[in-house]
Amino acid sequence: MNSFTYYNPTRLVFGKGQLSQLSSEMEPYGKKVLLVYGGGSIKRSGLYDQVTGELKKMGAEVHELSGVEPNPRLTTVKKGIEICKENNVEFILAVGGGSVIDCTKAIAAGAKYDGDVWDFVTKKATPKDAIPFGTVLTLAATGSEMNAGSVITNWETNEKYGWGSPLVFPKFSILDPVNTFTVPKDHTIYGMVDMMSHVLETYLNHTENAHLQDRFAESILKTVMEAAPKLVDDLENYDLRETVLYNGTMALNGMIAMGVKGDWATHNLEHAVSAVYDIPHAGGLAILFPNLLRHVIDQGPERLKQLAVRVFNVDPQGRSDREVALEGIDKLSAFWTSIGAPHRLADYDIDDSKLDLIADKAMANGEFGNFKKLNKKDVLEILRMSL
Ligand code: NZQ
Ligand code: ZN
Repeated sequence: MNSFTYYNPTRLVFGKGQLSQLSSEMEPYGKKVLLVYGGGSIKRSGLYDQVTGELKKMGAEVHELSGVEPNPRLTTVKKGIEICKENNVEFILAVGGGSVIDCTKAIAAGAKYDGDVWDFVTKKATPKDAIPFGTVLTLAATGSEMNAGSVITNWETNEKYGWGSPLVFPKFSILDPVNTFTVPKDHTIYGMVDMMSHVLETYLNHTENAHLQDRFAESILKTVMEAAPKLVDDLENYDLRETVLYNGTMALNGMIAMGVKGDWATHNLEHAVSAVYDIPHAGGLAILFPNLLRHVIDQGPERLKQLAVRVFNVDPQGRSDREVALEGIDKLSAFWTSIGAPHRLADYDIDDSKLDLIADKAMANGEFGNFKKLNKKDVLEILRMSL
């Protein structure tokens, strides 16, 4: 294992009806609140009324930022920062999926900074302070509710990057499976692909003697794979929503990553694709991940064999590690296709016309990936395999 320090200060409030905890969770903070949400799903589901009802009971002065886009944009972050600065906002409440939470993180840090918030995203500056914030999660996917990462898109320059700071852990996150009942089938599928991808990114490591981390990771993959086919046909099943919601948080709150150095090349590559084409994050992952694995297989066939045998029940008898690993990758891809995830870039009408631009975006910070360092030639090869 690598040496590590684990720190996660987010209070996780999980279960049916737990919105009732909102006022006590918000108690330590000020009453000037910015409520951040997306394109309207929370109004249709009734959650908006419940949250604003709670805020009213607390006597909060509520300002609102609505319309946060999936793949949240820098322009929207800046609107939120302006509202915070003009009104001396003391606490931000994000109600939505990963996009709303990521946008909130950038607002929280940006509102305490005199320069351009994009400096944080491009790592030209480091946040020194942030407005405290909490979340009410509505979609199981990113893990943003219990981590300190955020992904922001600058649509003007077609750039989408992740950034993070210990200052942007949510103070609390309220996770009620019922609030995810209305997530449509496609985003339910994307969410499960995303959480599985976070586990796979972590699993793709060369760290020795990390047996429990491997077992944690494999358990999450198996649990999500058991629930996924049932959930896509039964979207309001409480038990399945509960299972998937908990798995999504555990996949990317640092628990399975203690002491190991994951790969994260697929995420970097997908962010480049969605910076150019604005496709759903995990739609891109479902297409790219199997092809990336096929491309990097020779860096560690025994790791991918372990995945194939333990998670995809591939029979290793009398076959090379590489053969077993390849069958595991085929099974991963077939599983995602079976639950309705996209399979090829063509599913999003993406052809080869902008592959070079995507590759340049992916290479913006040089070679990337910890399992195998990818150069532009590697990236183009993976993209071509994905057409
Ligand atoms: O905008 P609204 O109207 O709320 O609709 C959203 C949106 O259209 C809808 N939705 C969310 N909850 C719903 C619902 N519809 C009905 N009922 C509900 N309960 O779902 C759509 C997608 O929402 P979004 O927040 O974009 O999805 P997700 O949670 O997958 O977040 C994706 C973003 O997170 C980034 C991605 O790159 C992408 O920008 N990521 C963030 C990470 C992090 N911070 O740790 C890690 C991830 O790997 C990822 O990169
Ligand atoms: Zn992801």
